[in-house]
Amino acid sequence: MKKRVSVASILGCTLLLSCTQTTDKSDIDLRVEKLLSQMTLEEKIGQMNQISFWGNSEELAPQVKAGNIGSLLNVADATIANAFQKIAVEESRLGIPLLIGRDVIHGFKTIFPIPLGQAATFNPELVKECAQIAALEASATGINWTFAPMLDISRDARWGRIAESFGECPYLTGVMGVAMVNGFQGDNLSNKTSIAACPKHFVGYGAAEAGKDYNSTNIPPLLMRNLYLPPFEDAINAGAATIMSAFNDNDGIPMTANKELLTNVLRKEWKFDGIIVSDWTSTTEMIMHGFAKDDKEVAEKSVNAGVNIEMMGMSYITHLKELINEGKVKINTIDDAVRNILRLKFRLGLFENPYVDEDQQNVFYKEENLKIAHKAAEESIILLKNNNNTLPLSKNLNSLAIIGPMADAPHEQLGTWIFDGEKSKTITPLNAIKNKYDETMQIFYEKGLEFSRDRDKSQFWRAVQAAQSADATILFIGEESILTGEAHSLADINLKGAQKDLVRELKKVSKKLIIVVMAGRPLTISDELEAADALLYSFHLGTMGGTAIADLLFGETVPSGKLPVTFPKEVGQIPIYYNHNNTGRPADNTETHIYDIPLEAEQTSLGMTSFHLDAGLKPLFPFGFGLSYTTFEYDFIKLNKHEVTDNETLIVTFTLTNTGDFDATEVVQLYTRQLVGSIVRPVKELKAFQRIFLKSGESQKVTFSLPIQELAFFGIDGQRKVEHGSFKVWVGGDSNAKLGEEFMVVR
Ligand code: BGC
Repeated sequence: MKKRVSVASILGCTLLLSCTQTTDKSDIDLRVEKLLSQMTLEEKIGQMNQISFWGNSEELAPQVKAGNIGSLLNVADATIANAFQKIAVEESRLGIPLLIGRDVIHGFKTIFPIPLGQAATFNPELVKECAQIAALEASATGINWTFAPMLDISRDARWGRIAESFGECPYLTGVMGVAMVNGFQGDNLSNKTSIAACPKHFVGYGAAEAGKDYNSTNIPPLLMRNLYLPPFEDAINAGAATIMSAFNDNDGIPMTANKELLTNVLRKEWKFDGIIVSDWTSTTEMIMHGFAKDDKEVAEKSVNAGVNIEMMGMSYITHLKELINEGKVKINTIDDAVRNILRLKFRLGLFENPYVDEDQQNVFYKEENLKIAHKAAEESIILLKNNNNTLPLSKNLNSLAIIGPMADAPHEQLGTWIFDGEKSKTITPLNAIKNKYDETMQIFYEKGLEFSRDRDKSQFWRAVQAAQSADATILFIGEESILTGEAHSLADINLKGAQKDLVRELKKVSKKLIIVVMAGRPLTISDELEAADALLYSFHLGTMGGTAIADLLFGETVPSGKLPVTFPKEVGQIPIYYNHNNTGRPADNTETHIYDIPLEAEQTSLGMTSFHLDAGLKPLFPFGFGLSYTTFEYDFIKLNKHEVTDNETLIVTFTLTNTGDFDATEVVQLYTRQLVGSIVRPVKELKAFQRIFLKSGESQKVTFSLPIQELAFFGIDGQRKVEHGSFKVWVGGDSNAKLGEEFMVVR
């Protein structure tokens, strides 16, 4: 079997060992074995038990002292972390330090765009920097483990956790996942500012039926291999220290008991030697699934499937000893789990240095880190419409109306999963625009609606009056952060409350209507798009979102974000994604609309192809899409060869020209399709991308190197390999890329 290393190598981290070793591997192994040999069964089981801290130190301290807890989650305070480490190190029999985990998902104090927004930057180096800063801030409080990145492929905007994902593409997810892992873990896990990463949720959780959180999934084996597993393998190859099992049952098997994937794939095939942790009570939830009759069976099934640490379920600490005595769980299974746990503790350098400096001054919100947060926000914003060059706005406007429930909503702007973020540190668009332009422009601010779900239209008249009096209206709408994230799925992804009405009213009176959507998912915004002269889409941007938006609006910077997910026109089109199969009856552009169908038309009159009669075929926007203030042209695609063998690298070149008036960055994308395969292959698959900066009028020859091994996939025989035959390659600015060439992979 060929190993997938390319995504890891993009970020200069090709080997597991080089990324994770703190000291010599054999030295760590010796220390692990020595310690293991001194442990009682109870102490071993204690290492496999993870408990959350909720201010309950008195309850937890004796447990830590007794060696019944190997890791804590949700301690985010240096003094408390040190106090617990002191008990573990100085008062427990063997002095084993604690792992301290926390959901540091898109920043700790300095909050960066939600992961979906970070994916929209198509800038893995920047994503890595964000994770580095998150690790720097979090580690200062004693956290040594984050439950991130989330690598669940998300093809469903109804699913609240799409916000935490990198979107629908396995390649983009893999690249961004590796970037985050490298950012969190740094060059060496033992650095004080490194924390262990935890790619999650293994695996398929994002395919929850109907986008309803925790729902069952039905992913067949080859799709699992070709779509859902690859980003995890990329992350493991990059040295991710831990992995979290998922809540979902796939084809009837809860993931936390899926031995085939947890042990055979993760351990045996991928040689993963880190920790597998369950999700929060995903072990004991197997009783509700109807997969285990009681906690004892839960412990047996989870540990035998390969889960090393149980997060919060308590079934391990209560039943593992008994299960060992009954012979239902082997002592080797326990020893292997504890080896993995101790190995990470050694790699993190916790035995040498379990404590952190309690003086937290100057660690958070450092100037240079806020700059990165600003950059990440700026690069993640996507321009979806810009009629008649409405944007950028002139800095010489006499007056400006700023309207909407999201214009000054510091908490909402931060997004989901921000346990430690502070809204008081957030710069909103209103603040940022006022700061810069209050002296030169008359700025009218009216909310119109108090919050995104507000249905009270009584203040509309104020907003209308403001818009009427201004040279331009900027309307900030979207969704509050609480409408996204875990357990926050929606069946309807239209704008909530009376926001649609507000758009309609403002459209009537605004000289120019600029809409900025701030959301945690793709929303269905066809009407708003039509009403707007220009529309910017931002996934919740974090601390520096306001300044980033202001800079884009007034042309200090130029948009370069691209969509990491397909935007549906209507919720009923979901699942809709760019890397779909072609079907036997693909629709073309001649698709008929429901109102065009004559009365009593013949059954065959509609072309008999695959599309919705009401929504058509196309999405609102394809994956990879995003406009700029300038325009780019793609010409002269050339391949170095038209016949390649499967161990060669195809060189694809083309010319990119900035044909507009602004210096700007374009995300150039390379897609391939295998025209005939042993199983049906997607119509397009992203295989590479680059951010290219060009001055207005400038042209550049761009080169992509595509190792043919990147075309390997799991085919009908269940083996991963490159299949010989005809392929097509395209380059372009989105997944509708048209400039292409064919080539053959030959023996
Ligand atoms: C989530 C995980 C998270 C864990 C710990 C669970 O509910 O599914 O993603 O890491 O809680 O907070």
